[in-house]
Amino acid sequence: MIGPRHTKRNQRSPRILFRHLAPLRFILYPAASMTRGAMTMDGLQTNSTEHGCDIALDGLCFAVDGKAILSDISVNLTASRIGVVGRNGSGKSTLARVIAGLVAPTSGTARMDGLHLSQDRKAALRQVGILFQNPDHQIIFPTVDEEIGFGLRQLGHGKDAVAKMTRDTLTRFGKSHWAGAYINTLSQGQKHLVCLMAVVAMGPKTIILDEPFTGLDIPTKAQLNRYLANYKGGLIHITHDPADLAGYDQVIWLEQGKLAQNGAAADVLPAYIARMTALGGSDDISDLAG
Ligand SMILES: Nc1ncnc2c1ncn2[C@@H]1O[C@H](COP(=O)(O)OP(=O)(O)OP(=O)(O)O)[C@@H](O)[C@H]1O
Ligand SMILES: [Mg+2]
Repeated sequence: MIGPRHTKRNQRSPRILFRHLAPLRFILYPAASMTRGAMTMDGLQTNSTEHGCDIALDGLCFAVDGKAILSDISVNLTASRIGVVGRNGSGKSTLARVIAGLVAPTSGTARMDGLHLSQDRKAALRQVGILFQNPDHQIIFPTVDEEIGFGLRQLGHGKDAVAKMTRDTLTRFGKSHWAGAYINTLSQGQKHLVCLMAVVAMGPKTIILDEPFTGLDIPTKAQLNRYLANYKGGLIHITHDPADLAGYDQVIWLEQGKLAQNGAAADVLPAYIARMTALGGSDDISDLAG
């Protein structure tokens, strides 16, 4: 049954568009991955990845109504596990949307595997999935299984295959009992998990995770870590918690829409932590951009 919340959401075509940009390949995780690393709580690991990212940002600028949000960012993101850090309002989520091709740069270029995804929606479908920071900006269906199944249908899977893949995904996350649950009865953290399951189920080449652990309890976070650790594609992980990026290969740090630092996690994270700690000792509150 389709409730009023669903009807209202379906009128918001941009959200449907976003889901259409979700990607192609579905990866079946081995049952063994359900137990591997179960006791580690220290962030994602880099083992078992097969593909690095191939993202080239060149002179990237993004502005809204003349207000600069991203300024002259040039960097290659080539690792399998890439972290993005920066203060509130520094442009992390905006950068995620640009990389995913949901919005076009105002000037400069953003390419993934040489493709301009904002100009090539078919390519975007194959390339990238994005987990939004706010699950309410992502969810468009009333029940959990419909939400997960939607992206799989967009990939061209038939009804029976979609039902099976949806069941398999829920099972692998230990959430089979959520299948028919109404999303508006879930907590915020549970909604976040539904969004992540929907993106992961589709197996994109690269997943962009915008603060994926927000609101998740410790066991659920550990469970997600296990799945992400075994993900064969690339991950771009936006977070405020450097501990989430333990074992990551590359980290970029944004400051007021500019690239403050790019490099190995071992170099960038200590500098970032030192700076944030220093700011935390002052009265500074992050400014609004513009
Ligand atoms: N559509 C928009 N119109 C006007 N300003 C915007 C728009 N999108 C983002 N901004 C502004 O751009 C800046 C960067 O926003 P963004 O959401 O990318 O930051 P963020 O680094 O993800 O922050 P947070 O850590 O709080 O999630 C903010 O000042 C925000 O208000
Ligand atoms: Mg953000």
